[in-house]
Amino acid sequence: MTLLIRGGRVVDPLLELDGLHDILVEERHISKVAPAIQKEGVPVLEAQGKVVVPGLIDMHVHLRDFNEAHKETIATGTRAAALGGFTTVVCEPNTDPPMDNCRILQRWFRMAKGNGCVNIYTKVCITKGRRGERLTRLKALARRPWVVAATDDGDPVVKDKVMERAFLKALEYELLLTPHCEESPATLQVFKRNNPLVIVPEEIAQYRREPYYVARELELAERTNWRVHICHVSMGTSLDLIRKARARWVPVTCEATPHHLTLSGEEMERCGPDAKVNPPLRKKEDVEALREGLKDGTVDVIASDHAPHTPEEKAKGWDQAPMGVIGLETTLGVVLTTLVHPGVITLAEAIERMSTNPAKILGLPGGSLAVGTPADITIIDMDKEWVVDPQSFASKGRNTPFKGWQLKGKAYATVVGGKVVMKGGEIVV
Ligand code: DOR
Repeated sequence: MTLLIRGGRVVDPLLELDGLHDILVEERHISKVAPAIQKEGVPVLEAQGKVVVPGLIDMHVHLRDFNEAHKETIATGTRAAALGGFTTVVCEPNTDPPMDNCRILQRWFRMAKGNGCVNIYTKVCITKGRRGERLTRLKALARRPWVVAATDDGDPVVKDKVMERAFLKALEYELLLTPHCEESPATLQVFKRNNPLVIVPEEIAQYRREPYYVARELELAERTNWRVHICHVSMGTSLDLIRKARARWVPVTCEATPHHLTLSGEEMERCGPDAKVNPPLRKKEDVEALREGLKDGTVDVIASDHAPHTPEEKAKGWDQAPMGVIGLETTLGVVLTTLVHPGVITLAEAIERMSTNPAKILGLPGGSLAVGTPADITIIDMDKEWVVDPQSFASKGRNTPFKGWQLKGKAYATVVGGKVVMKGGEIVV
């Protein structure tokens, strides 16, 4: 696989590179980064006027499949990823059936191998059936090269003792834990059964317990000295806890989603169930606090939490509709429009949060354009103006709170292992 990417502005935060360069790809890897590379007889991808960055990595997506192929499949989800500029996605394990044993993992791997058009990895469950009781066989699961972390996704492990055991096992098998610090109806029932004396006011019960779980995970990370990555932080209080823990050298990283970085609870009325998500959209102060955290580096990663549901399910009204918003095809545009163009963060900082840091946290090969790394590359048209039209998405999901938004900036081409998989808004594989 040979390719010459010519004339773009190359931005790589890891190499501290920002300038006009060509990139030569040979045998799926980057073989040279330099101005005006001369090479005859090689396919050329013109990138004049565009920005060339290390392939974007979305470390939090739901590609459903198995019994929920009507919501998304690996084929449709990875096409959406390529269109959004992502060269790598990491799937959550709350599939149906859940990713809690080696057999299902093997099934998933066979599907992923044949059907994805970008790199694809997965997380596995911490507990059997995500019920928070018995740990999965983390040792066996962690051995698979395409497994990068463990989480029970939307159902946090309620019992401290179970989570402590998970940390100790994760330390032993060197597996990253990426807990969701949110409340779900299932975990709330478990909590109430185990703590009958605690009367939880409804508002707190449903949605206010994020900082409680964040504090618990930080305590366990400190006690075991094992790494934890907190998924989609949505409240300023949680970020303060993380910031303080970091100052004590607790090994913690965290992520925020484009929707929590841009929308507050008021949007829920405007968007209806398409903005129903867990964790929910918060107060304006929380949005501000997340942006501060992004600027000062407390928020390491921007991840979409792409969570497709069918239009029929989302049409059931606020109370009945399932939680989740999609993001693979809008994340880059939303980040560029609301954070980079207005100067909240620089382009290099955005790329750090969407490529360099996810690669570092997950131990993945990408995240840089250094010579010798796999040629996973995203080419961005920073000035492309477009309107979010969910009907045009490759994803099966239509549930986006960004519907109708006017965005500036879009992926122009996505290159995976030296192969151009998307160019000019078209999948080309
Ligand atoms: O809103 C959400 N949707 N939050 C989660 O934690 C799970 C996700 C889903 O799977 O739909």
